[in-house]
Amino acid sequence: MTKPAAKLINYKEFLQKSEEPAVRANIWKWRDIDQKLKEVSAKDPLSDGRWAVSLVHEDTGKAFGVSPSLNMLVQVFEPGKHAKRHRHSNFAIFIVRQGTGYSIIDGEKIEWEAGDVFFAPPWAQHEHCNTSTTEQAVLYTVQDVPTVTSNGVWFFQGSEGTGFQHRVAERKE
Ligand SMILES: [Fe+2]
Repeated sequence: MTKPAAKLINYKEFLQKSEEPAVRANIWKWRDIDQKLKEVSAKDPLSDGRWAVSLVHEDTGKAFGVSPSLNMLVQVFEPGKHAKRHRHSNFAIFIVRQGTGYSIIDGEKIEWEAGDVFFAPPWAQHEHCNTSTTEQAVLYTVQDVPTVTSNGVWFFQGSEGTGFQHRVAERKE
């Protein structure tokens, strides 16, 4: 039998529950991230020349976020890698940890190097290129995927001209 979706509680109870801290303080150590990136690169890359690891806070449950409303990943681009253009309804903040390259966001070319921060707004076409022929590029990436998925409005579109996808999975009991 399907679990009912509706429930009523005293508003005082709601206020008390809302005061509870959502998540604990936490740290993801670079040595652990780096080790996981090396595992993923060998076994399960996103696409040719690019792979990524998500930083997940256990307290965020099914959001798989770094906080209840935000998610974070670390992505690596092999030397010379030019990732395919795409867009999504979540925004993305990119923090360059290592490397040099450029991104094209809504037609604007943004050149970046270690320490730079840049932003792709929701539904903006974007693509990334590692311009080094010898060094990997590493981008920390902060997104609001948990926010858009909680509202059922996570959309993704691959290369221009292809249809967009509403990213929702069938609910599992
Ligand atoms: Fe993206």
